[in-house]
Order: sequence, then structure tokens, then C-alpha cells
Amino acid sequence: MSLAAYELLQRHPQLLDNTLIIGNGAELPPEWQQQVQQSGSHILTWDWQTFQQYTMLDEDHKHFAMPQNQIQTLQPKQIILFWPKAKTQALNLIELIASQTQIESIYAVAANDAGGKSIGKACSELASHSDKIDSARRCSLWQLTLIPQAPMNWLKKAESFAHQQQNYLTLPGVFCHGKLDVGTRVLLEHLPAPAHGKVLDLGCGSGVIGLSLKQQQPALELTLGDVDAFALRSAELNAMRMGIKADVIASDGLHDIDGRFDFIISNPPFHQGKDTDYRFAQSLFQQAKQHLVTDGQLWIVANRHLSYEEWGQQYFASCEVLAQQEGFKIICLSHAKK
Ligand SMILES: C[S@@+](CC[C@H](N)C(=O)[O-])C[C@H]1O[C@@H](n2cnc3c(N)ncnc32)[C@H](O)[C@@H]1O
Repeated sequence: MSLAAYELLQRHPQLLDNTLIIGNGAELPPEWQQQVQQSGSHILTWDWQTFQQYTMLDEDHKHFAMPQNQIQTLQPKQIILFWPKAKTQALNLIELIASQTQIESIYAVAANDAGGKSIGKACSELASHSDKIDSARRCSLWQLTLIPQAPMNWLKKAESFAHQQQNYLTLPGVFCHGKLDVGTRVLLEHLPAPAHGKVLDLGCGSGVIGLSLKQQQPALELTLGDVDAFALRSAELNAMRMGIKADVIASDGLHDIDGRFDFIISNPPFHQGKDTDYRFAQSLFQQAKQHLVTDGQLWIVANRHLSYEEWGQQYFASCEVLAQQEGFKIICLSHAKK
């Protein structure tokens, strides 16, 4: 969610009145948070960064989870959906809302270049009415009257992919929904599965990197971390289905991770919104030392054009490009500098 979308919402203070705000948007204007708090509204987000930014709300009014039964439990008067960029996920959320509520005051908001312009059209099969009630600063706010739907099950919306005779499920919105990413595949082709030790798969998505290593080497101790509750749930379900024990942790980068690891492995995110964003990788290089044992290694897969070696060398004495294939490179960093 862009700042402009919050500004658009702030032109309609009546929309905040025992409202359930569903969605993500980590750069909150302070006044917005204050308005949410004063109105007694709730926020339900699947993004750990968004959840943590709502510092003014007490634990009863902010919820980090995949949206499921919260609408029934909280019985809000109104709902505002921050329309997510992944259209399938957005429509699944609309279907979920329509399956759980009869209330008419349902709003959806987004930047026009993130689907905001066409929310009405996108919802044509799920809404009997859709009205664009405001637009400004390249954002649109819609009011939707939804057609009641049968109960929705996220598992039925999941897509799977196969890797090493194992099916990995991905819930809507999870990276590479239903497919194994080419970069991840290249990483897994070149990554020697260590026989033992502690492994952290950071930005785990479906958990395919860590889980496939542990499947090959059951003695590994595995931690999977991600900011996204849909990813964490997918990873948890995949671990359960494979009978693998793993710690699954909501973490913004390394921020919420405790302890030291023999291996930190990641296919780092580098796109957020329209602009390229390397913050995850940069802070991973910078902070990995505090989470690696003395001879620990950081393994990264990256698009060939990204200058990760340059950044990595600032913090590690050894930085080897172990393979280059299909537009990706695999980098192993070790001997963290003092
Ligand atoms: C490129 S995907 C890789 C997913 C998975 N490891 C794979 O290879 O299929 C990056 C993942 O990082 C997660 N992510 C994005 N920002 C993050 C952050 N600040 N902290 C932790 N995870 C993050 C995303 O939710 C996504 O699942």
C-alpha cells in the first residue's frame, strides 16, 4: 500500500468505525495509525512488517495471520481491503469476505498501477454492485456489495509443484505460486546438502530449499523464516506433509531470528512494489555474521546482473561464485570479517 492510498482513505474518516482493515502496507503515516486506534478498528495482515508497524494498537486489535475466520469472530461493522497485487490472492480474499459476512460496507483500495483502477471489473463475478467512490493521487477507493459465497478453503486454492519426488504446496500469493523458481532450482542443483548442522532458510516461501535439504539429510536442524503468513503456513504444511520437524518463524530478515547457524541459505527478494529494493540482501550480508558460527556459510542465489559479490565482500573475506546458469549465479560467502 502506497502512502497515497492511505491519504485517500483519510479523506473518508467515516470508513473507520469498528472496521476490520485487511491487508498489507508497511509505510504507515502516523496519523493513519492514530485514526485506526481511536476508531476501535482492527487490522488483519499477513505481512509481519505491517503488523510490527502498528505499534499504537494493542494485541487485541492487530492480527498477524492468513485471513480465515476472523471476520466471523470480530464481527466488524465495515471492512476495508487493501487490494493485494497478486490478483488471484485478491479475488480469493474477496471470496472469503463474501463467504463470511452479510455486511454491505465493504471497501477496497489500491494504487491504480497495482490493480486499483479495475477492482470493480476484477470483482464482477463476486459483487452485485461496485462503485468507485473516490480516486486521487493515482489511487482508487471502491465500495463493493458482495454476492454471498459458500465457505472458502485456502487449501483448495493452493497450487503445487514437484521437486525430488516431493510435492510442495504454495498458498495464493506465495512466491512462484505452483512453480519451482528457476533461481531456486539452480541453487538446489549446486548446493551440497550438508550432513549435519543448523540450517536457516531465510525468505523460505514454500520452504522448498530447507525442506529438500533436510529430506536428503535428516540430521540437519532446520529453521524456516519469512515475513508472509501465507508463506509460513505453506512451509508449515509442507513440513507436516513430509514428516519433517522445522522451526517456522515470522521474521523480518534476521531481525526475529535467535541463535547461530552453520548455513544460512536464501533466494533473497529484491523487488518490492514498482521500485527495485535490495534492502533484504544488504542487511542479510551485514547481519549474517551475528547469526553464523565461526566457520558458517551464507549461500545466496541471485540474478546474474546483481552486484551481490561486491556487497558481500564488505562483510566476508571469502566470496565465491560457485556456478552461473540460466541467468543466475550461486554465491557462497564465508569467513565473516571482524
Ligand atoms: C524470492 S522468494 C524465495 C522463496 C523461496 N525461498 C523459494 O526459493 O521458492 C523470497 C521470499 O522472501 C520473503 N521475504 C520478503 N521480504 C522479507 C523479509 N524482509 N524478511 C523475510 N522474508 C522476506 C518473501 O515473502 C518470499 O517468500
